[in-house]
Amino acid sequence: MDDSSKNTAHSLSDLETPALVLDQNRMAQNVDRMRASLARFDVAFRPHVKTSKSIQVTRSTLGQASGPITVSTLKEAEYFSASGFTDILYAVGIVPGKFDHVIRLRRQGVKLTVILDSLEMAQALCGKARQENTRFDVMIEIDSDGHRSGVVPDSPQLLDIGRCLVAGGQYLAGVVTHAGNSYNCRSIPAIRQMAQQERDAAVGCADRLRAAGIACPTVSIGSTPTAMFADNLDGVSEVRAGVFVFGDLVMAGLGVCRQQDIALSVLTTVIGHQKEKGWIITDAGWMAMSRDRGTSKQAVDQGYGLICGLDGELLPDMLVVDANQEHGVIAHRFGDPAQTPALPIGTMLRILPNHACATGAQHSRYHVVNRNSSDIVEIWERFRGW
Ligand SMILES: Cc1ncc(COP(=O)(O)O)c(C=O)c1O
Repeated sequence: MDDSSKNTAHSLSDLETPALVLDQNRMAQNVDRMRASLARFDVAFRPHVKTSKSIQVTRSTLGQASGPITVSTLKEAEYFSASGFTDILYAVGIVPGKFDHVIRLRRQGVKLTVILDSLEMAQALCGKARQENTRFDVMIEIDSDGHRSGVVPDSPQLLDIGRCLVAGGQYLAGVVTHAGNSYNCRSIPAIRQMAQQERDAAVGCADRLRAAGIACPTVSIGSTPTAMFADNLDGVSEVRAGVFVFGDLVMAGLGVCRQQDIALSVLTTVIGHQKEKGWIITDAGWMAMSRDRGTSKQAVDQGYGLICGLDGELLPDMLVVDANQEHGVIAHRFGDPAQTPALPIGTMLRILPNHACATGAQHSRYHVVNRNSSDIVEIWERFRGW
């Protein structure tokens, strides 16, 4: 791939498309909003860096270089620790095939904490620690909303796992949960309720462990919607959130941000038309946008994304209605060809994504701009893979 224009262009209009654009003013506002939300409580903030996979984005989020951060892959742990982030929670269930990698990172001085949700894995971890004459920092994953993995809050397994880890000489750092089901809420009151449920599940598990004589120093919760709308975080020590940093159409559909807060977009070029259908064809298909159709479950379906001009201002009711691998099809929301604006071949547009994490993952770098400007002020690398 020839990336030369992507490294040397001074303006978005000089870029070969598709390309990823980051509005740093919007991002800074999103970070401020999250910080203001969390400042209502006595909690630490441990941002999830899987959204950006970028050192620069994370530095601007945290304002400090050593963490704490959350990662979703050990590659993220490698990459961030090499840049000085040393307090890292790897928040995907650990498996034996990754034990050696974790030990390697810890021996390099990374305070890497792993999570697990079964007695089987706790036993395997203790066995490995014995064999390697080492110790792991571990959190027990709690399923606070039935959406994914984790020990259900009232399960007897919780205490069995806790006892096994302590008896095996591991450091039980605490409990961790993520209310991912908040993405399926239909109203702000429902998100508030989900936040309470997330908090209650995690704090309740910590209390059960403590009542059984097992120390549980940290209670870690978080998703962007619940972090934004929580009313009560009593007993919670830290909050994790990821997608807040960019915002996206799923978050806007939930009322967690506004469409004009979305900091990430995909730059594309008009490559043709089907005038009788009111279609505009672009060079940003699902390879550039991702296959994520998260808004299809919401009250307003935003297709594969909403369309903005090069200045980042929305073109009302224009969206990517269909996507092939490298082709995007833009049309008016209500399908009336007369409503489609005349956008000649070569016109450059920006598309707001459904899911910033998924769209970002399709690209290798951010072209950083200031609000309403096409000048590229910086290029920030992001990494991919495992
Ligand atoms: C374990 C964990 N914590 C925190 C988050 C952050 O959630 P969000 O991107 O909604 O802020 C995620 C996201 O998937 C996650 O898996």
